[in-house]
Amino acid sequence: MNLLSATNLAHSFEYELFRDVTLELNAQESIAIIGMSGSGKSTLLHILSTLLVPQKGTVLLFGDAIQSMSKKRLSLIKRHDLGLIFQSHYLFNGFSAYENLEVSELLSGEKIEDSLLEALHIKEPIHQKVTQLSGGQQQRVSIARVLTKKPRIIFADEPTGNLDKKTADEVMGLFFDYCKSNNAGMILVTHDNDLAHQCDKVFQLKDKILHQIK
Ligand SMILES: Nc1ncnc2c1ncn2[C@@H]1O[C@H](COP(=O)(O)OP(=O)(O)OP(=O)(O)O)[C@@H](O)[C@H]1O
Ligand SMILES: [Mg+2]
Repeated sequence: MNLLSATNLAHSFEYELFRDVTLELNAQESIAIIGMSGSGKSTLLHILSTLLVPQKGTVLLFGDAIQSMSKKRLSLIKRHDLGLIFQSHYLFNGFSAYENLEVSELLSGEKIEDSLLEALHIKEPIHQKVTQLSGGQQQRVSIARVLTKKPRIIFADEPTGNLDKKTADEVMGLFFDYCKSNNAGMILVTHDNDLAHQCDKVFQLKDKILHQIK
């Protein structure tokens, strides 16, 4: 089943970042995007996840073009079906970790699962304020928040950048398992080649072109 289909995307800021970017994500599939710093990976992820309107090309989500969706449908899709984990997390700092998860629970109507908190090793500090958590703990809380809503597509930009190797492997294992058991897909941006190659497909953004290398 096709979850996302992007055709001939192009984007420039001060200069051209990429053109003719075409890719497809299917259910239970993971895609990695690698490339040098500044090549436009985060920008591409922003376009695929509806945060940025492409200057050229189209993105279909679950078969429908984002550009022609009603605002209402797009906001429902964002709330229920898309899970965004970005380079800097956007937790509510004044709240505890648990309260941050409750926001996700409330918006999506899905329950916070104890097993998820256990898997991410955040059960113990869950009632501490976000500002009192380590960077890696904050990152894992934001992952828990995203998985709590049971998205159909995960967009993850360096999701394990703050984590030690062992914890990072565990977290990535969780994402891969999540996709298989929930019929979801993942698009992962990473600088870690080994991690990228654990995905089903690997693309490299280089010289403004997205090359498939696996
Ligand atoms: N909102 C913006 N306005 C202007 N330029 C931008 C904007 N966002 C990104 N850029 C520029 O686009 C280029 C690509 O940025 P992007 O964040 O997509 O790179 P990246 O591949 O994710 O890099 P990194 O690996 O360092 O995260 C950079 O030169 C950046 O300055
Ligand atoms: Mg980036």
